[in-house]
Amino acid sequence: MISRELFSKSSRLFPGGVNSPVRYYDPYPIFMKMGKGSKIFDVDGMGYTDFCLAFGPLILGHSHPDVVSSVKSAVENATSLGTPTENEITLGSMINRAVPSIEKMRFTNSGTEATMHAMRLARGYTGRNIILKMEGGFHGAHDYSLIKSGSGTLTFGIPSSRGVPPEVSKTVLVGQYNSPSTIEEIFRKFGKDIAAVITEPIMGNAGVIKPENNFLKFLREITEKHGSLLIFDEVITGFRFGFSGYQDIVGIKPDITTLGKIIGGGFPIGLFGGRSDIMDSISPLGPVYESGTFSGNYVTMAAGIAALNKLHDLDYSDLESKTATFERTLRENMGENERIVISRYGSMFQLFLGIENAGSYQDVMKADSSRFMRMFRMLLKRGIYMAPGQFETNFVSFAHTSEDLEDAAIKTSGALKDSSNK
Ligand SMILES: Cc1ncc(COP(=O)(O)O)c(C=O)c1O
Repeated sequence: MISRELFSKSSRLFPGGVNSPVRYYDPYPIFMKMGKGSKIFDVDGMGYTDFCLAFGPLILGHSHPDVVSSVKSAVENATSLGTPTENEITLGSMINRAVPSIEKMRFTNSGTEATMHAMRLARGYTGRNIILKMEGGFHGAHDYSLIKSGSGTLTFGIPSSRGVPPEVSKTVLVGQYNSPSTIEEIFRKFGKDIAAVITEPIMGNAGVIKPENNFLKFLREITEKHGSLLIFDEVITGFRFGFSGYQDIVGIKPDITTLGKIIGGGFPIGLFGGRSDIMDSISPLGPVYESGTFSGNYVTMAAGIAALNKLHDLDYSDLESKTATFERTLRENMGENERIVISRYGSMFQLFLGIENAGSYQDVMKADSSRFMRMFRMLLKRGIYMAPGQFETNFVSFAHTSEDLEDAAIKTSGALKDSSNK
């Protein structure tokens, strides 16, 4: 196994042998060397149908030819210019037309940067300090995002990582997604100090949890009432279910949106944008600072333009219906007595093992993670690569064929059955 050898080398260089902890799983992660369409190939030459898709950007599948050729011709011109370019305007205009709440925007190099800047902007614009986030909501690996729930709703969050100063966590409150009463309580006590509420419109970092009972509309109303901003973190959901944001599907307009993943066509990207008057608080026009050497990178822009051009011409309902068929086949082949929730929205799905509801963070935390990882490893042996964790999200791309999906559904139901025997 070449992967095992590579892992021992990479462990000497990188903590845990990886450059992002979510890539690690026991006993060691398989090293991949190539991706094409719906498949990835490991260093031993074995192919896998990929449902992780690099954690979300590759809605067109791996190495889409349009993206590859756009990138090739871009690098012939330049790699990075560090000046304004027309490519930025082209991609920015496409995004502005597709997601009208993004009147003005700034490109960044990652979703982490996008949400970090969005939070600073909200604080700078409102002159307030507190950010309200949802428990289990992930907005990248910066200090204001790595905060989990304190002991009660009305206490400030506690760092979910060592190294986050308590002074930082004292500016972040944590509410419960899909629970208006917890949010109302927080606003009753802290409303006048809350700069913004940030949420993923569909939670995608605790598995998939969908909004219920007009939760997003409720957030829009309560933020407006208290003069706070609403930030939708659409790093996962943007351009995933249609040529727009999820906000355009549900008809709720946030003040600020963050995007990433899909809009870079597989290259590093992030974006925060929103109302012009808010965005004009950013330097050099306003007092809120934000910058980045590689932001709006020439090659990334070229990849993003090619990806969005292609997506614009594709029919998202095909993606929806093939994922629905995948879900149906999986259900039909699953054991009768299985306690499993298949939580799916469009082409985004997760299987929660050992629970019956996935309506809240508390619900999904009861899922059987160790059985999930047993299933994951069995699937690897059968040539299926799911995102390596119970609380990750899987994706179906336009490149997945009906055969890929039928094969994966049958193998997944088999692995599910086998994973129940320890
Ligand atoms: C909702 C959400 N926001 C922000 C981020 C951070 O993005 P990045 O990994 O590009 O920094 C992620 C990453 O998965 C995410 O899922």
